[in-house]
Amino acid sequence: AAASVRELLLSRIRDVPDYPKPGVVFKDITPLLADPAAFTALTDFFAELCVEHGATKIAGLEARGFILAAPVAVRAGIGFVPVRKAGKLPGATLGQAYELEYGTAEIEIHAEDLSADDRVMVIDDVLATGGTAGASLELIRRAGAQVAGVAVLMELGFLPGRARLETVLRDAPLEAL
Ligand code: PRP
Repeated sequence: AAASVRELLLSRIRDVPDYPKPGVVFKDITPLLADPAAFTALTDFFAELCVEHGATKIAGLEARGFILAAPVAVRAGIGFVPVRKAGKLPGATLGQAYELEYGTAEIEIHAEDLSADDRVMVIDDVLATGGTAGASLELIRRAGAQVAGVAVLMELGFLPGRARLETVLRDAPLEAL
């Protein structure tokens, strides 16, 4: 994306110190969502990546990933697939557990949402430890589809998210604005 777009988007992300707990600086994207010029610029940026990498489906990661990915699917004219926290999808699901700082979490997709012809772009707001995105790539492959890439608004460079994801990405790109 152009430097001016980056600057606009960065200016619409609010740092909230000590949220959700002391010592953590939360990256709040609600100012960006409330600004149509910024939200549109971000949607366009993600949609261009989807075209560039030949995506046939977009997977959004609950919950903030849903907000960012859904308009990209509409803009790019391709289908949207929700990757949900376990227990929320009514149909036949595939599930993948992954490690958190303390404990584990599990995400699921509807197995029938993807097929062997699909190339899936994963979209989310933040890459932190890479656990969530990594688990989503496992799900996509277990559903028989290919990974087109992972695209996030922010990558937290002080965490080993990119390194952790590299092994599961294989040759697919990780794009961080
Ligand atoms: C946040 C964020 C990413 C994930 C990144 O989601 O939106 O999905 O954590 O962390 P990781 O790289 O360490 O896996 P969160 O679980 O807070 O869910 P939410 O979007 O529903 O608030």
